[in-house]
Amino acid sequence: MMMARKQDARIPTYNISVVGLSGTEKEKGQCGVGKSCLCNRFVRPSADEFHLDHTSVLSTSDFGGRVVNNDHFLYWGEVVRSLEECSECRAHVVEQTEFIDDQTFQPHRSTALQPYIKRAAATKLASAEKLMYFCTDQLGLEQDFEQKQMPDGKLLVDGFLLCIDVSRGMNRNFDEQLKFVSNLYNQLAKTKKPIVVVLTKCDEGVERYIRDAHAFALSKKNLQVVETSARSNVNVDLAFGTLVQLVDKSRGKTKIIPYFEALKQQSQQIAAAKDKYEWLVSRVVKSHNETWAAVSRKMQPAPEYQDYVYLEGTPKAKKLFLQHVQRLKQEHIERRRRTYLALLPQALEALVPNLDEIDHLSCSKVQRLLEGKGDFSKWFVVLEETPWDATSHIDSADAERIPFDVMETPAAEQLYEAHLERLRNERKRAEMRRAFQENLEASPFVTPGKPWEEARSFIMNEDFYMWLEEPVYMDIYGKHQKRIIERAKEEFQELLLEYSELFYELELDAKPSKEKMGVIQEVLGEEQRFKALQKLQAERDALILKHIHFVYHPTKETCPSCPLCVDSRVEQLLGSRAARPAERNQKNFLSDPNVDRINLVILGKDGLARELANEIRALCTNDDKYVIEGKMYELSLRPIEGNVRLPVNAFQTPTFQPHGCLCLYNSKESLSYVVESIEKSAAGRRENHPAHLPLTLMLVNKRGDAGGETLHSLVQQGQQIAGKLQC
Ligand code: GTP
Ligand code: MG
Repeated sequence: MMMARKQDARIPTYNISVVGLSGTEKEKGQCGVGKSCLCNRFVRPSADEFHLDHTSVLSTSDFGGRVVNNDHFLYWGEVVRSLEECSECRAHVVEQTEFIDDQTFQPHRSTALQPYIKRAAATKLASAEKLMYFCTDQLGLEQDFEQKQMPDGKLLVDGFLLCIDVSRGMNRNFDEQLKFVSNLYNQLAKTKKPIVVVLTKCDEGVERYIRDAHAFALSKKNLQVVETSARSNVNVDLAFGTLVQLVDKSRGKTKIIPYFEALKQQSQQIAAAKDKYEWLVSRVVKSHNETWAAVSRKMQPAPEYQDYVYLEGTPKAKKLFLQHVQRLKQEHIERRRRTYLALLPQALEALVPNLDEIDHLSCSKVQRLLEGKGDFSKWFVVLEETPWDATSHIDSADAERIPFDVMETPAAEQLYEAHLERLRNERKRAEMRRAFQENLEASPFVTPGKPWEEARSFIMNEDFYMWLEEPVYMDIYGKHQKRIIERAKEEFQELLLEYSELFYELELDAKPSKEKMGVIQEVLGEEQRFKALQKLQAERDALILKHIHFVYHPTKETCPSCPLCVDSRVEQLLGSRAARPAERNQKNFLSDPNVDRINLVILGKDGLARELANEIRALCTNDDKYVIEGKMYELSLRPIEGNVRLPVNAFQTPTFQPHGCLCLYNSKESLSYVVESIEKSAAGRRENHPAHLPLTLMLVNKRGDAGGETLHSLVQQGQQIAGKLQC
């Protein structure tokens, strides 16, 4: 405490009296000249503590309360400040006014009621236990405010701030104010105390009044003039600082700044503080659900917050916060809206992918259809309250589904139209693809192997050319080509089979000579099926060579019917059946080391059987032994050429039990003989009948012995029979 007092004592103290036109409405118009606001801004400059309204019209009780204390002056308290960059000083501020009775609208009667001009020039003020004034609300509620007394109940005034209101005022004549001020000045001048003229309300200043006020000051011993605005907080400290400097000449001289220059500085300061505060808000507030109470508490220690609130007040700070939150909310809604709209085309694609169903429906009509779809609730949610962005749905966790009322927005309508358009487009494109394909089928111009570059010009003028892209045409064309080439090749293959006699004369295993190829081509050249492969000559030649190869080495693999080749089919068929007992026997039979003889029936008409029997015998050793896989077998052959019903041609005799049968044919008739013999023999005995014997069907092909039938058809027929007999 002692320390504090000692320190306090070193700070110079000045008592300042603020005066200016006061009185009844008749004298000062509907509002005062701004004395109270000037004092308020000086002693409590922060925006939150600044009040524009300090009425002088009071009830008797307020007038008698401890704040007014039956005086016509207010004690505004003391303030310690380093004014205008000088060392700290203490200022006590009083305002000389005239309190008006709210009943009589006459000045309240007080103990020493003198005319204002006389009283305002007083330099010795006394009022026991008078309390510091804050604001109008304080009157009658003194206990709710800090109760600070005017020191020792008295004050010696060191100087005066003489206020001149330069605004238009209300029902007040400026010249009369100036006359009043002039009289007042004369009274103040008598005290010999320093006086500074303060132009108040310069934010609404009238140029002529400002000029006249300056002229007045000039005429009075060069009085100093400070242009202020308590409302805009401009030059208020400067006004008090200028007076303090006049009271105490030892203090540095203040520099008087014209109103507009000072206003500019003040505005810049506010703008900078606002920027910083907004930055702080954007950093602290990330969600639109934050509340002012929580956020302001969090921001309180930050200088950015403090500075802005000091200059502009909490309500403005809150307003900026709310604007920020509103912005965040809008952004959040916008993000969600974008998500929903991005999802909508997929939803439409999933629920109404069929153009026929919706072609005639508007966006509002399609809604009912959508609601009826099974998967509707997978994509949409129907809210009780709409629109979704004005309800709590904006914060709902169910953000995946589209609120159904989105469908009522123009953006959704556009997307729906786009969906329709896409489907129509697709339909049109499908039509165009079909048209193009049909065009290809019908065109005599598109022949197998014709490159796209050549064919392309023929579609250029067609309707559908606009609708599809080059690669689509190329793809369709390519597939079409593949089809017609395949067909042409098949037909050419047919042609080759039809002309089988062309290929018999060729040498085995030799490439046909140039001449022979020439002959073949010449003969076939007349045929349309040959000409069809005109553009694919190499492939055509390859087909001819392949055919020749096949004729001499017919295998399943080279068969032109592959995979429909009978050989392959039979194999497949057999593969899918359980092995026949005879097959098992045959297998066991040769792998059985005790077996050392083979009894073989050879079935074949017209000497075929005997001929083969002789050929086989020729391969045997002298004592009729035959070697298979290094093992010697005694071989007994039974050629049969006649009717198998006769005992002489029977498959088996008491001395001959067949192990297998070779069936030979070289013509249609000889093949029929084989089939009939096997069937007849099967109809006889059940045991060991030929159907149970391992059978092998052999085509005996003698050169130049075609007998009018083509080799190919014999092969085919043989394969058919083999399938039937499962051999
Ligand atoms: P009395 O004490 O009743 O004689 O009045 P006063 O001189 O104390 O005037 P006061 O400060 O109460 O201001 C009166 C009114 O003037 C206020 O309520 C404001 O509306 C207005 N006023 C005060 N200061 C300013 C200012 O700087 N600019 C503007 N535009 N208006 C102000
Ligand atoms: Mg006042």
